Amino acid sequence: MQVAKLVVVGQGYVGLPLAVRAVEAGMTVVGLDRDAERVKRLAVGDSYVEDIPRERLAAALGSGRYVPSTSYADAHDFDVCVISVPTPLHDGTPELGYVRQAGESIAPYVRPGCTVILESTTYPGTTEEVLRPLLEQGSGLQSPGDFHLGYSPERIDPGNPDWTLENTPKVVAGLDAAALRRIEEFYGRIVQRTVPVGSPRVAELTKLLENTFRQVNIALINELAVLARELDIDIWETIEAAATKPFGFMPFRPGPGVGGHCLPIDPCYLSWQVKRRLGRQFRFVELASDVNHAMPEQVVRRVMHGLNQRGRPVTGSRILQIGLAYKKNVGDLRDSPAVEVADRLSRLGAEVRIVEPHAGLSPLPRGASLVELTEREVGRADAVVVITDHDRVDYGLIERAARYVFDTRSRCSGPQVERL
Ligand SMILES: NC(=O)c1ccc[n+]([C@@H]2O[C@H](COP(=O)([O-])OP(=O)(O)OC[C@H]3O[C@@H](n4cnc5c(N)ncnc54)[C@H](O)[C@@H]3O)[C@@H](O)[C@H]2O)c1
Repeated sequence: MQVAKLVVVGQGYVGLPLAVRAVEAGMTVVGLDRDAERVKRLAVGDSYVEDIPRERLAAALGSGRYVPSTSYADAHDFDVCVISVPTPLHDGTPELGYVRQAGESIAPYVRPGCTVILESTTYPGTTEEVLRPLLEQGSGLQSPGDFHLGYSPERIDPGNPDWTLENTPKVVAGLDAAALRRIEEFYGRIVQRTVPVGSPRVAELTKLLENTFRQVNIALINELAVLARELDIDIWETIEAAATKPFGFMPFRPGPGVGGHCLPIDPCYLSWQVKRRLGRQFRFVELASDVNHAMPEQVVRRVMHGLNQRGRPVTGSRILQIGLAYKKNVGDLRDSPAVEVADRLSRLGAEVRIVEPHAGLSPLPRGASLVELTEREVGRADAVVVITDHDRVDYGLIERAARYVFDTRSRCSGPQVERL
């Protein structure tokens, strides 16, 4: 299949890497985003997505085949359109407004033979029940029949240098065999391996299964970490020992909670739909959410306890928090448990100073300030609290200079270090 023109709706963490990769694979790409500021930055080669360094963006622009735009009119005559817009929760309910808006806006440009693929994470049935009618109404065409429609979940792991868009297998599905063939051919030019499945619903559920699996296993180990401490057993050593089993065990590690655009949200899409369709609760998801949501408070309690043992009340203590992003090696603060920890400590009257070597730090939690990691800064802190285990942090310096370290990621060791 010749893809002369690809349109990617949404130029965020998912859409921008796809657009740039498609340019590198020889396609002409319109990167549509309704955020004019983002489009302006893209047009001058200023990447806000860490996985796309400026040089790659500059090369895409330089090829003359990447056009960032706010105007859907630039989508005319597209061969393939991928929709990668946000799917957040609104009061615990899936918010598909962005998907609907994207579908309505692209529909007038749908023509016979073209292909539309949804990549946004969502509950099973969205492609067929929500997107398809919008595209059909807006175009006067039908799928299957006139145009191709399908779903392919994105598995991008921001900041992971080993597993990229290219080498991570891509699950693909179409409404019918012809759509699946087209979609496989398209992604076959972008990634090394596609994994066809029988329907968009399976592909939609695959993504939710993957993230629910992570959410539940992280919750399991978080709860066990709290219990193991009360039993006076080292959870970290226990996990490493269990991980030597070559089959039937996969290590997950405790932490200050889960964050980002996926783990806290995606399982709720599934439990919402189970409730709506079947009138039943998806109990694992609810339990896992409860356990993981309680972790920031658990961390704060442990820090207060540690300070107490050293004769310091949390009020008036100087706390150096390492990391504000929701996971290591990225600057993404969305739903970050680290923000909640900083906020809670600050409300308790602590002076919170934050080391965050990755960009994108606005707004800072109330009362917190951003500092460099120096020997003096570490030495003056009553507690150093390691929340996000960025590789760029000098943990040796912390071990040398800190009086008390509370480490939620097991990056530090020494007599003054207490682990989650
Ligand atoms: N970030 C991840 O690691 C990740 C991984 C896998 C899947 N996903 C899923 O992919 C989807 C996109 O996530 P993201 O992280 O790229 O979000 P993002 O917020 O980084 O980017 C989405 C972009 O879409 C734009 N947008 C919104 N509505 C639009 C519209 N109607 N027309 C044009 N542009 C529009 C926004 O301005 C924004 O720039 C979500 O469903 C998310 O759950 C994200």
